[in-house]
Amino acid sequence: MAHVPVLLIHGFPFDHLLWRYQVGALTRWRCIAPDLRGAGASSGALAIDDFSMGAYADDVIALLDRSRVGQVVVCGLSMGGYVTFELLRRFPGRVRAAILCNTKAAADTPEAKLGRDALAARAQQGGARAVADALLPKLLARVTHEAQPAVVREVREMILRQPVWGIVGALRALRDRPDSTPLLGRIRVPVLIVAGDDDQIVPAAEMEAMAHAIPGAQFTLVADAGHVTPLEQPPALAEVLSGFLGALG
Ligand code: MLT
Repeated sequence: MAHVPVLLIHGFPFDHLLWRYQVGALTRWRCIAPDLRGAGASSGALAIDDFSMGAYADDVIALLDRSRVGQVVVCGLSMGGYVTFELLRRFPGRVRAAILCNTKAAADTPEAKLGRDALAARAQQGGARAVADALLPKLLARVTHEAQPAVVREVREMILRQPVWGIVGALRALRDRPDSTPLLGRIRVPVLIVAGDDDQIVPAAEMEAMAHAIPGAQFTLVADAGHVTPLEQPPALAEVLSGFLGALG
């Protein structure tokens, strides 16, 4: 029997190349790694009100429909995890299993919402460069900053190629996303949670607590990884993913 395809959803402010190593490594599975609206090579400038987790999820479902793909294993990183929650909430029949990397269920606090607006203003004034300068220090593990300059460069370049309107739109979607905590206990598909041991944006302890709230969820901690595990520890993540996917049959 053919494996169910894997849908890889990137985080903010990234594009599908976040997953380039995993797409290359998971050769037994068909991998679908789109650019969300406003990211990478996605086309057409949209208005800020066109951005929400719901709109991202609708885009992804439309892509699956166009590709005649029914069920998928959804693997989302951070904002991609928020989109995964949206898919589990609204399109549960399409999700065979879920992999939640470096993400959390809670909505933004009032303080975090103000931070989104401040970063959007910064993006409008200083472009993607200002966003990269603001985010890079906390996106990557301390050991990545010290020992993997090529990864630091790659993540910076990925941020720099994102259009400002897409960054600003994503910040609106992030700011206004719903709280997915009530969903956790109702998830009935296999779930793998992957945390980085030095993730300064979503601490591993918070992800472990989320794993306890999802029936039967597995939890894996990746060593020497910050918030961008797919590029900071590619082989380790690929091994974890293929172990989970292989066990699904
Ligand atoms: C991401 O990587 O998608 C962002 O860190 C998400 C967030 O800021 O909540």
